[in-house]
Amino acid sequence: MAEKSPDQMSLAEAKAELKRLAAEISEHDVRYHSQDAPTISDAEYDALRLRNAALEERFPELVLADSPSKRVGAAPQEKFGKVQHRVPMLSLGNAFDDEDVAEFLGRVRRFLNLPADTEIEVTAEPKIDGLSISLRYESGKLVQAATRGDGAEGENVTANVLTIRDVPAKLEGRAPAVLEVRGEIYMSHKDFAALNKKQNQEGEKTFANPRNAAAGSLRQLDSSITASRPLRFFAYAWGEAPEHPGKTQWDAVMGFKKLGFPVNPLMKVCRSSEELLSHYRSVEERRADLGYDIDGVVYKVNRLDWQERLGFVSRSPRWAIAHKFAAEKATTVLEGIDIQVGRTGALTPVARLRPVTVGGVVVSNATLHNEDEIARKDLRIGDTVIVQRAGDVIPQIVAMVIEKRPRGAKPYEFPKVCPACGSHAEREERETGKTDAVRRCTGGLICPAQRVERLKHFASRNAFDIEGLGDKIIEEFYHDGLIQSPSDIFTLEARDKRALKKLRDREGWGEASVKKLFEAIDQRRNIALDRFIFALGIRHVGETTARVLARSYGSAKFFRDQMIAAWPDSEAWNELNALDGIGAVVAESIAQFFAEQHNVEVVDELLKHVTLAALAAVAASSPVSGKTVVFTGALEMMTREEAKSMAERLGAKVSGSVSKKTDLLVAGPGAGSKLKEAQKHGVEVIDEAEWFRRVGNGK
Ligand code: IVH
Repeated sequence: MAEKSPDQMSLAEAKAELKRLAAEISEHDVRYHSQDAPTISDAEYDALRLRNAALEERFPELVLADSPSKRVGAAPQEKFGKVQHRVPMLSLGNAFDDEDVAEFLGRVRRFLNLPADTEIEVTAEPKIDGLSISLRYESGKLVQAATRGDGAEGENVTANVLTIRDVPAKLEGRAPAVLEVRGEIYMSHKDFAALNKKQNQEGEKTFANPRNAAAGSLRQLDSSITASRPLRFFAYAWGEAPEHPGKTQWDAVMGFKKLGFPVNPLMKVCRSSEELLSHYRSVEERRADLGYDIDGVVYKVNRLDWQERLGFVSRSPRWAIAHKFAAEKATTVLEGIDIQVGRTGALTPVARLRPVTVGGVVVSNATLHNEDEIARKDLRIGDTVIVQRAGDVIPQIVAMVIEKRPRGAKPYEFPKVCPACGSHAEREERETGKTDAVRRCTGGLICPAQRVERLKHFASRNAFDIEGLGDKIIEEFYHDGLIQSPSDIFTLEARDKRALKKLRDREGWGEASVKKLFEAIDQRRNIALDRFIFALGIRHVGETTARVLARSYGSAKFFRDQMIAAWPDSEAWNELNALDGIGAVVAESIAQFFAEQHNVEVVDELLKHVTLAALAAVAASSPVSGKTVVFTGALEMMTREEAKSMAERLGAKVSGSVSKKTDLLVAGPGAGSKLKEAQKHGVEVIDEAEWFRRVGNGK
């Protein structure tokens, strides 16, 4: 729908639109700030605010008392408070080869004027590929956590860092009055893969590598989101630390260990450049097995009095250097581009490569993200390409080698029809006028690829969770015509009884495994409504949204009827849109799903075979059910994650920010702005002990 320019609008039109914008923006604010589910991009959000501002400028008399333009701090771009680093956070100079390392030692020796035979102890430890953080402890308590920022000024991410298990909220042992511990926040490969899988299942954006995932997780306005992302930490440096943490780098870091910080087990004190280089090579050899990304080895002069004398040049210390690993790259040939079709019809190109070893791993395919990326890199089939596995789990194509392009290689033409079903594949026009980066198959359930992907999603862990019905088996069963639609899962056993070719006779199967599968299926004939809704695989309906819908509609039949009735501007439509946490994009996607007859058929067929259980153990009446609760400060008896899930189990809604709608603030030590905000709004404030008194053990 084209938007009218404010100049062409009547007063009444402008008034209606301002009201609509205020509601929509505040809805997105809630989704962004307090739920794990923004449904529009920052750019789309900005467009809404700009539209609001333009209308207000043209019609100043219509500015609403609660206009979004009057709310501060809600805009995503003004996220965190700023923190001035008392001791700047510096970067490191780089060494790329053995010679650079020898030169580094030579410089240190000359600067300190040490005789040639004086031994210089140097620590060597992995350079973690994450993001650096400064943690300020006062009398043993974490009072502030700040990102590096530009080195002089960073962002205050205290609430989020408090959710990280690796970072002690309280120091162990004898605590100094002030201590700033610095180190790296990172995400392990395993956690990164699991996070991306989850994001993918929920139709949310995936991260390119663990470092981005860690950064994205830390920079969340809602710390409960950070809490749900498994971040890790290694301590390796310090800022303000008046009671000096030791005589050497080694002692200082070991001191951190005693205070309760994880320190890297591969740190070693070396006494010559040969020893440094041999440690470097041994770390490099172990790189692939560490389970987290590193991109080099950092050398630091061990004696702290020498560090002090050496000081800094511009923004890097003279006493340290980062010896980088050569990027893991290799050259190979792009043999083809396959198009994969996802559950929601997204066409994802995958590069098929002539197999090549990159950093010890054989690589035969690489991600290409989307159509635009292929065009931007001008990749053509037959091209010689440079592949990189820069610690990333999925290899990437960095560039092509134009000199080696075969004659007659044609620019790659991205298919305009779905390779699986032949339906048109389109790039959606966004309301902002931008085209979506993703081309989607419009075939819906006609498309076999989408059907298989939807079946996989249906049976997956957070949906119906049918053990023994993994991706591979679903593909097989689909191909053999055994399971075409979700309800077929529940008739499998009955059909098998009548069939001539029994499941137990299939290769790789037997009496016992078939029995186990049927049992697993039987266990899911009764299922919680939120899982049922999530399992349908409606675009933009992740677990959180499914839970909101389940709670609001209560029964599958009622949900189905209401969604079918939810045509724009109908009563059912308005009700759906009024739900807390359901924005326009989500509502439209649900309505679209139910507007398609075959989807309704799938739901109806299913409902013949499954019964709905009450919502996954949410207490109907607990002292906090129906209340909006905010947790703040350092929690000592539970993690943020536990607190959130306990409160939700008890029927409360957990929010990341305090407003006049908040019913209860649970404040631990160190609570700051949220506490003030709560007092301002007259929100009840209790401590953790009182929380437990009220809710018992939370079961
Ligand atoms: S020492 C004064 N040690 O590398 C120097 N840095 O290029 C303080 N990094 O911003 C840094 N692992 O994010 C140090 N073991 C390690 C490191 C490390 C990763 C990062 C850190 C820093 C960057 C410098």
